[in-house]
Amino acid sequence: MKTDGGSDGAKRRAGESAAALVGDGMTVGLGTGSTAAHAIRALGRAVDDGLDVRGVPTSFAARELAREVGVPLVALDEIEALDLAIDGADQIAGGDLIKGGGAAHAREKVVDAAAERFVVVADPTKEADALSRPVPVEVLPAARTTVARAVEIAGGEPTLRAGERKDGPVVTDNGNLVLDCAFGEIEAPAALARTLAETPGVVEHGLFVGLADEAHVGRDDGVSVRRFDGE
Ligand code: A5P
Repeated sequence: MKTDGGSDGAKRRAGESAAALVGDGMTVGLGTGSTAAHAIRALGRAVDDGLDVRGVPTSFAARELAREVGVPLVALDEIEALDLAIDGADQIAGGDLIKGGGAAHAREKVVDAAAERFVVVADPTKEADALSRPVPVEVLPAARTTVARAVEIAGGEPTLRAGERKDGPVVTDNGNLVLDCAFGEIEAPAALARTLAETPGVVEHGLFVGLADEAHVGRDDGVSVRRFDGE
């Protein structure tokens, strides 16, 4: 589920701050969502000014935007590693993230985890002391009932994500469904991440534990950069 709130100015400052880290010759993961979109647009402007970069899109939407603004692309299955990934988040707490509000977290996790440096871009509404938003879980369509039961046994309340301006559920870029799983405040994100990952039929979940290297959070008057190494 997408968060509401957060000013576009704050998102733009965060995205542009992260895009400024990109240097010549880099392969860069292009995240999904309204904040990462600002980074993609900034990269497009930098390419116009001569930057030599290859982008790896994390979704249909990121690919379309990158094409529109002129960022050269390479497919995820053509690369083994990335220099940098820039991606948004739905919630950030102590370096751990909940992602998947745009149902793109499966490819996002592959790209973000393969990057030498993963920079999260966000507005201040995403910051929290503990993760508590529902965790998006991408599931094989045929496994939605058994996964939902496993989530309930793990203490969660699963809700099949419904489409907007479409009857029926959201179908991901990978042809799967999404269960938004409410666990309340998540006291042990790593343990929950393992439980979800071990559930047959789960393609990927939106808990990103220990993956982010830093967060650029846009504020009214600038950008706060927080490094997570060693946290
Ligand atoms: C996409 O599935 C998500 O992981 C997004 O990165 C996340 O929802 C952040 O999006 P916004 O920047 O639009 O809030």
